[in-house]
Amino acid sequence: MTTLTWSDQLALHQPQMDATHEEFVALLAQAEAALGSDEAELLAHFDALLAHTTLHFSQEDRWMAATGFAPENCHTQQHQAVLAVVSECAKRARQDHDFEPLRIAVEELATWFPQHALSMDAGLAQHLAEIGFDPLTGKAEIVIADAAPLSGCGPSARAA
Ligand SMILES: [Fe+2]
Ligand SMILES: [Fe+2]
Repeated sequence: MTTLTWSDQLALHQPQMDATHEEFVALLAQAEAALGSDEAELLAHFDALLAHTTLHFSQEDRWMAATGFAPENCHTQQHQAVLAVVSECAKRARQDHDFEPLRIAVEELATWFPQHALSMDAGLAQHLAEIGFDPLTGKAEIVIADAAPLSGCGPSARAA
């Protein structure tokens, strides 16, 4: 298994997003380290990762909703799909004491995250920079009037 570690290669130069992503990588590493621990400890780490990921995705979804993305854009849809799988893994572990899906999810998230960050999140970070969006105020310097809603797919926010 390859441990995902934070590096400049993952940085998107959007401070709030990078801070959240660095936290995600750290929580994922803790969950991965707990794969050899008892099930209660592993589940606690996975729950912490799930709680953080819920906030992580909702933060990005909020920024997209505030800056012209269509509600059903594919970046948000991918967040929903990943969150549904991760939530189901936690539920299976908690209710059925079946930890196999959770163990697989920890490994898969380490593969999925760099791909997501360097495509969809990178596109969002670029879009936010281009319009001068301030996550603290939720306001942009540039408002694009009459533009088609953004799809959120691919490295460019405007890619189909
Ligand atoms: Fe992200
Ligand atoms: Fe994202």
